Parts: sequence; structure tokens; C-alpha cells
Amino acid sequence: MVKVAVLGASGGIGQPLSLLLKLNECVTELSLYDIVNSPGVAADLGHINTPARVTGYLPADEGLKHALTKAHLVVIPAGVPRKPGMTRDDLFKINAGIVRDLATGIAQHAPNAYVLIISNPVNSTVPIVVEVLKKHGVFDPKKIFGVTTLDVIRASTFSSEISCKDPRDIRVPVVGGHSGPTIVPLLSQISPPQSFTQEQIEKLTHRIQYGGDEVVKAKDGAGSATLSMAQAGARFASSILDATVKGKAGIIEPSYVYLEADNEHCANLKKAVEGLEYFSYNVELGPGGIHKIHGLGEISEHEKKLLAAAIPELKLSIEKGISFINSKL
Ligand code: NAI
Repeated sequence: MVKVAVLGASGGIGQPLSLLLKLNECVTELSLYDIVNSPGVAADLGHINTPARVTGYLPADEGLKHALTKAHLVVIPAGVPRKPGMTRDDLFKINAGIVRDLATGIAQHAPNAYVLIISNPVNSTVPIVVEVLKKHGVFDPKKIFGVTTLDVIRASTFSSEISCKDPRDIRVPVVGGHSGPTIVPLLSQISPPQSFTQEQIEKLTHRIQYGGDEVVKAKDGAGSATLSMAQAGARFASSILDATVKGKAGIIEPSYVYLEADNEHCANLKKAVEGLEYFSYNVELGPGGIHKIHGLGEISEHEKKLLAAAIPELKLSIEKGISFINSKL
């Protein structure tokens, strides 16, 4: 039995993400929670002839509790998206409280679940979830993931436009966080290897960092990336299920995660990023969630500068998330 819960399932990301999860044959129960319309989305998806039984819950009648109980995996795309001119950090005021309340539900009703956080600003919402779980004594650093997969997908798509290769075959590690200057694509480590001119590197880097703005602008007030984000979220969820349910080894997905102080791999990485508690790296998944967090490897001078610019901004976002919980609970 593999129950997956989507919190914020009726939204622009939530609906197509739930559709893609309904098509994942590893899922036997798909539980959809939102403050509006989730029973409707569940009824609609429930007619698709794949194994997952679909249920929809609203806040009334302990809906969050029922949605979460016995969940193996919880995906959170709940919260408001950006409008033109807004940064992800502008969403903090509304989304921080939403994510805190959902994390409290997870701590109470699904304390052993793997949790994927999509809600922005990811750089702060992941620390919020972690602080809530810590307060309830149920935090497992190997199970909490900030979803940065869309940056990785964009990096391969945009790079392929220069190299004219199939984007599915291109991998670019994207490290740091998930907002503008904290998104650090390591183009020097592109696979298969590819050399770019400095001008191409600068343009590509900027496009990967601000790719989300292209969508926000094109949607002209109707929101941010939803369909590409749904695909990215479903890919990440599928990787987690492959590792934790099917026992597949060697799956690597970049993700924004908590760096444990007493973990040997993390200790080296923490030093490289000036002691930050959270950072996005290539994460190797295993049966218990995070198996190993890979290091930065050799990075170019240009990438060192990008990293140096990312670190102070990440530090502020992390502190903002942590203090939001510690001053409010
Ligand atoms: P949306 O507004 O279309 O959907 C959000 C959904 O959350 C709505 O259905 C709403 O009813 C629901 N919701 C609000 N409060 C809730 C609560 N307390 N409990 C449960 N559900 C609640 O927004 P969209 O476009 O789906 O974006 C969702 C979030 O994902 C935003 O914060 C956005 O910035 C973020 N995002 C993250 C990306 C990433 O790469 N991590 C990429 C794109 C968007």
C-alpha cells in the first residue's frame, strides 16, 4: 500500500501534479487536500483506470488528518504563486503560515512520511517545515526535500537549445537554492561535456536563474509555472517512490535539503558553503530517503562567484524561515 497525499491539490500545480501521480502505478491511494474543490478534482481523476484509489478532502471534518494518515509521501504545492514584478520572497507573508499549518498536520498525522515542498519561497519554507517537525520531535533529516527539479529541467532544456542535443540526455547540476541569484547552475559539469563561450555561459546562467520570470511575464498576472512544475514534481516524487518503495539504488536528484552537522559528507559541504544549514546538492536516494549528499566537485571561477553571491541571500532566507516558527509557535 503506497499512499501519496497532495496538499494544495486543486491549484495550478496541484491538479496536473495529481494527474501525473494518478498515472504512477506505484501509487495505490492518492489523497487530495485543499481548502477548495478537492472532492471535485478527486472525482474527476478517480475515473482514470489506473490502480490508485483517489480521495478528496476539505478542511471540515478533520480533512487534513484523513488526507495525511498513513501517507508514505506528502507533496506540498499549497500557497499563492507570483504575479509580475514579485519575487518569491514576496510570497513569504502568506505562504509561511500555510506551510507551517500543513507541516503541523504532517507532524501529527504522518510523522514518518517523506515530504516534498514545492511552495515558495522554498529557501524559507523548507526550514519552516523542519522547525515544525523538530518541535514535535519527529524530524528525520533524510526525509525532507525542497523541490528544485524545475531549475534542473530548465537547465537541460535551455542548454539543449545551444548544443542541439536531446534535452533528456543533458544533465546540469544546479546547486544553491530556488530563487534568482541563489540558483547556481554548474555548467562546467554539464553532461555530456560541452564547452560554451563565456558569453553563452553568462546568458545561460541568467536564463536558468530567472526562467521562472519568463513564465510569470507570459502568463501576465495569471500565475507562475504550473505545468512544467507539475512534471518536475511528479518526476521527483517518482524518484522517491522508486528508491523507497521499489528499492532502486543510485538515483540522483538535486534537492534543497538540511545538512546534518554530524554527517561526514555534510560536514565537508557545510564548510564549502560557510556553514549554511540548507543547500541544494545532488542527492543520492536510498531506501530510507537521502542516502548520500554529493559534493560540489571542481567548479569554475565564474561558478565560485555565483556561489559567493548565493550564500548571504540563502542565509537570510533560512534565518527568516527558522525565526518565523520560533517566534510564533
Ligand atoms: P495556485 O494558487 O494555482 O494553487 C495553490 C493552491 O493552494 C490553491 O488550490 C489553494 O486553494 C491551495 N491552498 C491555499 N491555502 C491552502 C491551505 N491552507 N491548505 C491547502 N491548500 C491551500 O498556485 P500554484 O501556481 O499551484 O503555485 C503553488 C505554489 O508553488 C506557489 O507558492 C508557487 O510559488 C510555488 N511554485 C514552486 C515552484 C518550485 O520550483 N518549487 C515552481 C512554481 C511554483
